[in-house]
Amino acid sequence: MNPLEVNVGSVTLKSPVILASGTCNFGRELSEYYDLSVLGGLSSKGLTIKPRQGNEGCRVAECASGMLNSVGLQNPGVDYFIEHELDYMRSLDTGVIVNVAGHSFEDYCDMVRKLDPYREKIDALEINLSCPNVKEGCMSIGSEPSQVKRIVSALRELTDLPLWIKLTPNVTDITAPAKAAQEGGADAIVLINTLLGMRINIKTRRPVVQNNTGGYSGPAVMPVAIRMVSECSRVLDIPIVGCGGIMTAEDVIEFMIAGASAVEVGTASLIHPEAGLKITNDLKQYCEDNNIELRSLTGTLELW
Ligand code: SIN
Repeated sequence: MNPLEVNVGSVTLKSPVILASGTCNFGRELSEYYDLSVLGGLSSKGLTIKPRQGNEGCRVAECASGMLNSVGLQNPGVDYFIEHELDYMRSLDTGVIVNVAGHSFEDYCDMVRKLDPYREKIDALEINLSCPNVKEGCMSIGSEPSQVKRIVSALRELTDLPLWIKLTPNVTDITAPAKAAQEGGADAIVLINTLLGMRINIKTRRPVVQNNTGGYSGPAVMPVAIRMVSECSRVLDIPIVGCGGIMTAEDVIEFMIAGASAVEVGTASLIHPEAGLKITNDLKQYCEDNNIELRSLTGTLELW
């Protein structure tokens, strides 16, 4: 048995390591660095009904121990994805997770209607209720539990594909939207997306990113993500995919102990394109050294 194999509900992954949406596009660029088939999966860039150019002006700012992004969901649109990128992702011999974004309730429903006919090529839909960089939809829906439940229930009626709901950490109580997602029929939740932040250019006294605010990611956010995974794992019956600041195999192990069944690695690949490969190899070594199957770690946290 492959010691790295994990399940996220009905989805079996050969490793818990998935590359996070927006940090691997559709896999083409990173596939020049290593064979992506070692991974558990790839989550596509967030897709919308129509192509989007993304936000104007400067869209990233470096921060201590992380970065701020305000990309604004730049993507070629779902039709282009289906025609030109989906078969490529499927050919990579790894899990295909399609990240679905939208500006309204109807957008999400239309996106799922478009993708459902391609269910043989898709392992899960990751419903992005958490991008902080657009004015409508995404985070504004994901921070309101009643809207989370409404949208997930509607999508549940439209597809049998596994629905993974990606939640925003920009809320007081993360268990409220997580429980709402579960009640709506979600198969898993993914947390966390980025923390809303701002940087200021002290010479111009203007925000560094032209959208004024952006989403903060990188190693500094990991303790927030670990806390939220641990809180949710104590109240949910569905699996959790942990995300937020993972840089090393030890970070993956920490997320799994907190309650994650799998993880997403994001900003690390922007720093070291081969991060997914190194983390996977180090996890293999850990399993060998400790004679352990990785899945046995999930939810083994003992609180004081
Ligand atoms: C973006 O495109 O602005 C980031 C996407 C996200 O945070 O989901």
